[in-house]
Amino acid sequence: MSYISFQDVYFSYQGSADDSVRAVNGVSLDIEKGKVTAILGRNGSGKSTMAKLINGLLIPAKGKVYVDGIDTADEDRIWDIRSQVGMIFQNPDNQIVGTTVEEDVAFGPENLGVPYDELHKRVAEALEQVSMSEYAKSAPNMLSGGQKQRVSIAGILAMHTNCIVMDESTAMLDPAGRRDILDLVMSLNRDKGITVIMITHFMDEAALADKVVVVGDGVILDQGTPKEVFAHRDLALKAGLDLPPVNNILYELSKTFKDIDITALTMEEATEQVVKALAQN
Ligand SMILES: Nc1ncnc2c1ncn2[C@@H]1O[C@H](COP(=O)(O)OP(=O)(O)OP(=O)(O)O)[C@@H](O)[C@H]1O
Ligand SMILES: [Mg+2]
Repeated sequence: MSYISFQDVYFSYQGSADDSVRAVNGVSLDIEKGKVTAILGRNGSGKSTMAKLINGLLIPAKGKVYVDGIDTADEDRIWDIRSQVGMIFQNPDNQIVGTTVEEDVAFGPENLGVPYDELHKRVAEALEQVSMSEYAKSAPNMLSGGQKQRVSIAGILAMHTNCIVMDESTAMLDPAGRRDILDLVMSLNRDKGITVIMITHFMDEAALADKVVVVGDGVILDQGTPKEVFAHRDLALKAGLDLPPVNNILYELSKTFKDIDITALTMEEATEQVVKALAQN
């Protein structure tokens, strides 16, 4: 079985305006260990609901979600899942619980019952990993949004988590802060093999993923490598995605020049295609 597995999962919110609206409406999905998976889709398509189903904050009404073979509906194992899958949300201010940075980072592992000496070591290591050691004694409310997200990530790392789910965690950051968090998460994936699931509206972030999953109205509309998904241009546009600017430029070029590959992801690849078009002229 894959690391995270959705098996024909359904979920509706009790008491939502229309109970018949299923936030997740029959999703089967496999997420591989050690990979970066991006989940895309317009507002209200069910992305956050899927994220919460992964770490057992929500339990399927029908179907199963497994994390490393553990059924998220198994109440006895919920802490095994929570310690394995950490969530980072959009608003950095809603996630900070400690009065100092180190206290905040200690919160998760402390709840897992990690003994004091070990706790101390884990907090120091985690802060080191996110380059926030010098802020250990600082008050979190003095930090920038990006620094707060780093502290939240440290809190997850201190639990020795294998998987980070980012639910639009860069959406409230300025471009530099966004880049910074993205670089950090990608390096945690590369260097420590941490599985990353990022829900995002930013196509440049999705382009970095190993796999992209497009959702709409609680169902999976498309999945594949970023290239494959962006190549399904009509479907992607119908799903409300803003395709990366390079794809839009290449698409316009392809109307006039034949054999243009509109799936380029990098500026290098795009430049190659533009040069090809010029050569045809
Ligand atoms: N707590 C809730 N109570 C009732 N309905 C909810 C609740 N949370 C979400 N919904 C509904 O469930 C559906 C899926 O919502 P979800 O938050 O998973 O979408 P999303 O893709 O994360 O959207 P966004 O891009 O706006 O974050 C939507 O129709 C939404 O209105
Ligand atoms: Mg959401």
